[in-house]
Amino acid sequence: MCGISGATGAEKAGQIAFDGLKKLEYRGYDSFGVAMRTGSGIHTYKKEGKISDSKFKPMQTTEAIGHSRWATHGEVNQVNSHPHSQGSVTLVHNGTVTNYVALKRALEKEGYEFISETDSEIVAALLDEYIQEGKTPKQAIIAASSQIQGDNSFVFMIDGQEGIWAFNLGRPIRVGIADGVSYIGSDVQAFLEHTNIVNYLDKGDACYLHQEDRKYFSCYDGKEIKKEDISIDIEPSSVEKGNYAHFMQKEIFEQTSSINVSLDQDSVKMSMASDLIKYADRVFIIGSGTSHKVAMVAEYWLAKNGRIYARACASTELSSWMQFIGNESLVIAISQSGETADVISAVRGAQERGASVLALTNIARSELDEISDVTIPLQVGIEKAVASTKATTAQMAIMYQLAKMVDNELGEGLINLVDLSSGLSEQLNPNYIKHVEDMADVILKQLGYTENGNGDQIQKNSMIIIGRDILYPIALESAIKIQEVSYIHAQGFAAGELKHGPLALIEKGIPCIVLGDDDRTINEAVKARARGACILGISAQKHEVFDHWLSVPNRHDVYAIATLIPMQLLSYFLAIKQGRDPDFPRNLAKAVTVE
Ligand code: G6P
Repeated sequence: MCGISGATGAEKAGQIAFDGLKKLEYRGYDSFGVAMRTGSGIHTYKKEGKISDSKFKPMQTTEAIGHSRWATHGEVNQVNSHPHSQGSVTLVHNGTVTNYVALKRALEKEGYEFISETDSEIVAALLDEYIQEGKTPKQAIIAASSQIQGDNSFVFMIDGQEGIWAFNLGRPIRVGIADGVSYIGSDVQAFLEHTNIVNYLDKGDACYLHQEDRKYFSCYDGKEIKKEDISIDIEPSSVEKGNYAHFMQKEIFEQTSSINVSLDQDSVKMSMASDLIKYADRVFIIGSGTSHKVAMVAEYWLAKNGRIYARACASTELSSWMQFIGNESLVIAISQSGETADVISAVRGAQERGASVLALTNIARSELDEISDVTIPLQVGIEKAVASTKATTAQMAIMYQLAKMVDNELGEGLINLVDLSSGLSEQLNPNYIKHVEDMADVILKQLGYTENGNGDQIQKNSMIIIGRDILYPIALESAIKIQEVSYIHAQGFAAGELKHGPLALIEKGIPCIVLGDDDRTINEAVKARARGACILGISAQKHEVFDHWLSVPNRHDVYAIATLIPMQLLSYFLAIKQGRDPDFPRNLAKAVTVE
């Protein structure tokens, strides 16, 4: 997902748009750009690389739009960065225009030439073509909306005409309201330090903003739309790093309180959610990336605690199971952002077959929230690091609680979770953190890492993580965490599966993290050790097969969450010890809003 930020009517609109992009950098950090309207026309600055590393000084202007890019169409370079200009139109874009090739061919016949490889530049040309034909900007938006396919949002300025235009064809746009000034962003964080009063553009809504003049209309028929002013309750300082070196570190430590907060749910909604689970003929739990691993953990809890047969599925794989989904079925969609396109598309497919949808998401009014029958909010505050931590454990805590509710054991479930949560501050003490850090040193040593400052010094890029039962999806999630931020090839396996293939990967010194200490898991660890693996145990009890060991407090059946937290910290250390920035892992974005 890319970030969009802009302002009209503010004295330093260019600076505001640029500062807004810094707040949204985690949404895309391949390149960025700002277009500023001045007395001599629209001036555009674009640059490859991170916004926070840039020394750019915006011009003095009263109107500007900006964009931070996560590349889809075309490589990461300055030309492909937004804003894009064609004729009178300068535009920023979030989403994917699925019919861009056909639109491009038609526009080329009209004489348009394109310099970038993006689908965005084509929409700038399409809007310009309509304006050149004599259409008003509003008419141009209506005409373009009927041509553009895919889920998108666009914000643009027209040379020589003051004001900012925007339209939402399936990607979020928020307008910030203040005296004499309007702000615009793909996320409220873009302007939260200036105002917390917001208008949300729904899918199919467009707007014209000029200072405090704000007009809303439908992209489809141009009819005027009234918008409700909504006050957002997010403290701007809560989305800053504070004294932490990285957002990932901050968010790992926030789990000492966030799990507890996530449990403070509306009981009516929780009952509705548990009833949906209880009375569905089939339950599918879907998510992408880390949220998919949470779905797998939930699958175990629903089986063990709720006695419900559910199927966890990567959201991109649900299509193969659609014939089993009907109007008695339930899809539980797990997504931190609520914007992941693969999740939204799977949910829409299931809804077409009549399924009910229960969502777990951190972002109120996200698309997932809007289209679901019941939403349980995670309530953990904004999560900025690409690698999810506090949202993950909140998703797990809520799914565990729901599984216990299905089995009429809510009370016991809450006791276990509160016990886990209150013990976390104790678990994450400086001594313990040092042990995690030492384990990262051991792993890097085994992988032949030598520090020479160029960031690519690992000799053997392979490590294995095994776990059984609920610790199996925790092994998968641990592996994803390590891959995302440290770029080490870590792979998770069900402990018992190690001997059925992966054992061939074991060579002397390969780190093998063993989650848990039950006899069957230890039995597999022994086989890996016999073949030379370096065994790192993460468990309640120390065992002699472990070359190194990190303790995990025994937390009943939420032990899985207690085991994941040191793995998150270990990933963090594996990243920073190699000089990687865990908040901005290469090639990734916080949520992927394209399929
Ligand atoms: C992206 C991120 C992953 C994340 C996944 C799902 O791929 O890089 O870290 O797990 O999206 O995100 P969601 O917001 O749907 O939970």
